[in-house]
Amino acid sequence: MDIESVIKQINQIGEDTKDKFAPFQVLKTFKSGRSEAGVFMVEYGSANRVGILKVTKSNEGKVFKNAYELASKNNMQKYIAKLLSSYKIQGKNKATLYVNLYDLAGDDIYNSETFLDKVLNEDELKDNIVSAITKFLFTWNKEHVKKNMSPMDIIKNELSYRYMDSKYIQAFESIGVDKSIKWISLDGTDILLPNPYYYFNNDNVWNNLKVICLTSYAHGDFQGDNIILTENKPVIIDFCDLLEDCNVFHDLRYLESITLGDCLEIDKESDRELWSKVCESSSGGITEIELPTGKGMSLLRRLINKLRENVKLIVCDSRNSLYDPSFHLAGTACGLINLRKYTSVNKKKAAFIYTAFNLKNFLKDEAVNMYDPKLNSCMVFNWKNQNLGNDLVVLEPTT
Ligand SMILES: Nc1ncnc2c1ncn2[C@@H]1O[C@H](COP(=O)(O)OP(=O)(O)O)[C@@H](O)[C@H]1O
Ligand SMILES: [Mg+2]
Repeated sequence: MDIESVIKQINQIGEDTKDKFAPFQVLKTFKSGRSEAGVFMVEYGSANRVGILKVTKSNEGKVFKNAYELASKNNMQKYIAKLLSSYKIQGKNKATLYVNLYDLAGDDIYNSETFLDKVLNEDELKDNIVSAITKFLFTWNKEHVKKNMSPMDIIKNELSYRYMDSKYIQAFESIGVDKSIKWISLDGTDILLPNPYYYFNNDNVWNNLKVICLTSYAHGDFQGDNIILTENKPVIIDFCDLLEDCNVFHDLRYLESITLGDCLEIDKESDRELWSKVCESSSGGITEIELPTGKGMSLLRRLINKLRENVKLIVCDSRNSLYDPSFHLAGTACGLINLRKYTSVNKKKAAFIYTAFNLKNFLKDEAVNMYDPKLNSCMVFNWKNQNLGNDLVVLEPTT
C-alpha cells in the first residue's frame, strides 16, 4: 500500500469539498492483521486531532454503520470507536480503496493497550472492564431472536465463508483427520471424542435434530487485539467481519478460545497434557468452570470465569439449560475457525482437540443425547506423543 498516494488523494478530496477532517498526516503505522488493510495513526484537521485511518479493499464503513446503528439503539455506542469520515479512492491498477477515519480509542497516543497486550503481559485486568466487555457482547446486538435450528445451520452461520472452503479441508488433512471417521481417541488416555469433521460434513448425521438457539448480529472477530482498554472502559474496534443471524454465544466463545490459545504453550509434552485438561474443563460447565492449575493458568482461571459471568444476561435462571447446546456449539464453531486459521500443525491439533471436547458436550446434552462412542470407526489421535502418526483402531475378533 502506497500510503503517501492515499494521503495525497484524500487531502485533495478534503480541499475540494472543504471537509473539516483534512488535511491528514501519518504519525505511525500499525501492524494490520489482514494482508490488504493498512492501519495508520494520523493527525487530522485544523485542530490537530489524532485518529486512526484504515485503508481497505472492502467497504468496511458500510458494515460499521450497520453495527453502530444497532449499538446506538441499545445505548452501547460509547463502547465503539466512532467512524468520523469515509473516502473512496483509486489505488494501484484502478482498484477501489476505502479509507475510513476512526476516533482514536485509548487514553493517549503512546499507550494504547489492548486486551491481548494485558493478557500476554499477565497484567491484572480490572473486573469492571472485563464485565463491561461481556455486558457489551450480550447487549449491543439486541433483540436476540429465538430460533429452532439444526446444528449444521448454526455451525454454518458461525463459520460463514470458511465452512468447507479449501483452507478448512486442508486444515483437517494437515492434522491427518479424515471425514469418514466418527470417533477420536486421545493417545495415552481413555478419552473418546467425536470427530467434528465427520459430524459437520453432512446433514444425515443429525436425523433432523433441532436445538434452540438465540441469534443476533455478532462482531465476528472478537479477539483480544480488537478490544482497546482505556482507564474506565473497553472500546471495541474492527467490525468488518460482522455476522448476521449468528449464535449469540459466538463472540464470547471466540474471545475465550483465542485467549486460551494465545496464552498457553503446547510445545512440551506436559504443556500438551495441560491443554487437553483445559479443553475438557472449559467445555464442560457453562458458568462455573474449574480450570486446572499449571503453567500460565493463574490469570486465565479467574479471567475465563469472569468472562462467562454475564451469560446470566441471556439466561438469568440458572436452572434453564435450554441454551446449553448452543453454547457448546459456539465453542465447537470457534474451535473450527481456529483450526483453520492457525498456521502451525501443533496449534491446529490443539484447536482440533478444543473443538472435539466442545462437540462432545453438545452430544452429551440431554436435548441431543447422541454421545455413543464406538470403536469400529475410531482413530488414535497423536497429541501427547507427536512423533507418531494417527492410527486407526483395528478391532480384532476375540477367539
Ligand atoms: N480506533 C482505534 N483506536 C486505537 N487503535 C486502533 C484503532 N483502530 C485500530 N487500532 C490499532 O490498529 C490495529 C489494527 O486495526 P484493526 O482495525 O483491528 O485492523 P485489522 O483488520 O488489520 O485487524 C489494532 O489492533 C489496534 O492496535
Ligand atoms: Mg483487528
